[in-house]
Amino acid sequence: MKRLAIIVMLIVTIVVTTMAQEPTADYRVVPLPERIDGIKGADFRLTNQCFINYPAGNREMESNAALLSQYIEELTGIHMSTRPCRDTKSSVNQADRNGNISLLIDAKADNNEGYCILVTSRGIEITGKTPAGIFHGIQVLRQSLPVGKTPLVLMPAVQVESSPRFPYRGMHLDCSRHFFPVSTVKHYIDLLALHGMNRLHWHLTDDQGWRVEIKKYLRLSEVGGWRNGTTLGHNSPVNDGIRYGGYYTQEEIRDIVRYAAQRYITIIPEIDMPGHMLGALAAYPELGCTGGPYEVWGMWGVHDDILCVGKDQTLQFVKDVLDEVMQLFPGEYIHIGGDESPRVRWQECPRCQQRIQDMGIRADEKQSAEARLQGWFTTQVQQYLSEHGRRIIGWDELLGCDVDATATIMSWRGAEPGSQAALQGHDVIMSPVDPLYFDYYQTSQTWNEPTAFGGCNTLKKVYDFDPVAADLPADKRKHILGVQANLWTEYVTCEPQIDYQVMPRMAALAELQWLQPEDKNYSDFKARLPHLVEIYKLYNWTYRAKSLVLED
Ligand code: ACM
Ligand code: ZN
Repeated sequence: MKRLAIIVMLIVTIVVTTMAQEPTADYRVVPLPERIDGIKGADFRLTNQCFINYPAGNREMESNAALLSQYIEELTGIHMSTRPCRDTKSSVNQADRNGNISLLIDAKADNNEGYCILVTSRGIEITGKTPAGIFHGIQVLRQSLPVGKTPLVLMPAVQVESSPRFPYRGMHLDCSRHFFPVSTVKHYIDLLALHGMNRLHWHLTDDQGWRVEIKKYLRLSEVGGWRNGTTLGHNSPVNDGIRYGGYYTQEEIRDIVRYAAQRYITIIPEIDMPGHMLGALAAYPELGCTGGPYEVWGMWGVHDDILCVGKDQTLQFVKDVLDEVMQLFPGEYIHIGGDESPRVRWQECPRCQQRIQDMGIRADEKQSAEARLQGWFTTQVQQYLSEHGRRIIGWDELLGCDVDATATIMSWRGAEPGSQAALQGHDVIMSPVDPLYFDYYQTSQTWNEPTAFGGCNTLKKVYDFDPVAADLPADKRKHILGVQANLWTEYVTCEPQIDYQVMPRMAALAELQWLQPEDKNYSDFKARLPHLVEIYKLYNWTYRAKSLVLED
């Protein structure tokens, strides 16, 4: 009898210890879901016996299921097959749900991108109004998993729900100053997906290189895509003399757009105009005021040579380029830049001066005639895109450009221009240099950091930013569509450096994008970050480890 008791005790101890050691999901991820309500009752065990069900005939849900299966296998080694289930096009019948993960559309849900994850002993359901919402739920489930090979994961019974604070949640990537291969752009899209973001602002053209193939103007990429060397450091007199460049073919761009769409990320291409155009001018010097010759620039900064908007040929060029850009990028928005356009050439250019006269453009108390000429040019472009069903986004310099209220303003010279724009009725994306330029240092202790632009945007500064100014009137707040961080790449040359600049700051950004201000809590965020970093490590992504332990 005594021996039996000992054996029973032993078995109980083994079972309890094994259970305690069962790798367990933790739903407190980044960005933190709005509600995580534990449910009484048995938990669920995820194993390779489970299926991932999706409604048959729904291709987006099929793709969601495949990605979820891939993520689970990457994190835990558990292979789960996906399975189309017939009930309705949006649902899966109850019998099929038992013991499995099911992805379900709920047309009655409020928010287009919200999700609900229900875990009970009967299985896991990820529900959303749209496949995009379900995809965000999938990212939460992914992040909640323990990292490391295991035959099963204990999923505590729970209801997890959230919807994002802002509809526009973006990151920007400059592929002009440095050119990154298709694989790196896709990798960047993967980062956005993991962090619950839905917009990639892709900066494709600039003084240092034109990166998008335009069939009607092949010299743009063949000539404008290459520079003869690059300055070392912050515009030092030393140039490396190494020919540098590259561009994306239209086929590659379509592939990237598709890849992003599978992750519910819309790409917003930027063709910066009328400034930052030396790439195009080197290829087609007739588009400039002086006629050139011009060279793709091997230095950083703002160049005086910009498009000559006195020539009809320039307007035709812009429309032709945009025609092809619209073919490549199906999203509503095209970013037309508009920043940092010096007007010194226009002041001297007989054609630009003629345009000013012909259009009856006059200086006013706020603006020179040349500044208002940029307004005229921008309006032409805005109208053209609008006739084709598209809308423009531009940098906040557009506020001085007479554009109508359908132009969305991207506030970069601080948050104040964005608030001004909202007051004037424009939609706004907040991406102020301070603190959302991720090409800035992330510490004041810069001696052992990769070279960066300058500045100091720490993880905490990013976290503490509120995109909606406290004094913005309630009826104007709806104009703040969202928030984005920018990665300019003068000093960023390779994928690990991209990763280092953006991680973990994009985790902080993700919380700004999803959480209501009253739900933000920096120390709680810091406590949740290490698990996300386990995922970064699993994928061998570079990140700034010091930001986890130091407030420097
Ligand atoms: C910018 O940083 N020039 C928009
Ligand atoms: Zn001109």
